[in-house]
Amino acid sequence: MSNRSLGLDDRLHSYLMEHSLRESAVKRRLREVTAAHEWARMQISPEQGQLMALLAELIGAQKALEVGTFTGYSALCLAEALGPQGRLVCCDLSEEWTSIAKPFWEEAGVAGRIDLRIGPAIDTLDSLLAHGMGGDFDLAFIDADKENYPAYYERCFDLVREGGLILFDNTLWYGRVADPGDDDADTVAIRAMNDRLLQDERIGLSLVPIGDGLTIARKR
Ligand SMILES: C[S@@+](CC[C@H](N)C(=O)[O-])C[C@H]1O[C@@H](n2cnc3c(N)ncnc32)[C@H](O)[C@@H]1O
Repeated sequence: MSNRSLGLDDRLHSYLMEHSLRESAVKRRLREVTAAHEWARMQISPEQGQLMALLAELIGAQKALEVGTFTGYSALCLAEALGPQGRLVCCDLSEEWTSIAKPFWEEAGVAGRIDLRIGPAIDTLDSLLAHGMGGDFDLAFIDADKENYPAYYERCFDLVREGGLILFDNTLWYGRVADPGDDDADTVAIRAMNDRLLQDERIGLSLVPIGDGLTIARKR
């Protein structure tokens, strides 16, 4: 297959950022604070956050789910896009990492929209389903432990309405998905998830090469 995608060298990436990124001061400061964190690379890129916010706006999303919040950058992007009536349920294991997010959510005026649930995300998603919230959500963003992506997908599929979106982060996994010599458990899990999504006729699908790969699935 011929490759018609542009490779982005640093110069072209800088151009893209300078000519399309609209990032508020509070988001930029949250990125700067997270940059000092030993796991900073887990944070999504600002241009990916902007794309996710635009997708949420495009479908008029008001209720969303996030699996994997870390220091809260992607949550901030989504919560802003949901508007004043919005509600975002965030799932994470770490009280410590998510507490970094809170003052930034407050400053941005979206803290009241965010319902942070600390604990294994599978339990939180099961609890939402048990409380009759199947089909209630417009959008879900999956960005936690890779081996559980299939479990998160099936639950988010049930929680999202028809026409809603399920977004998956890291679906190119630093390019490792295409390296036949890489059989690391996370690489194998992402590959299996990608293949499963390709075969799943219940969704419309695109894998966008932004950041570390963002898969967009639309529930039919
Ligand atoms: C890649 S980071 C999320 C990055 C975040 N979306 C952002 O843009 O800043 C993954 C997060 O998933 C959380 N996590 C890992 N395993 C989890 C689990 N089983 N349940 C809930 N959260 C989990 C980690 O604590 C971590 O904060």
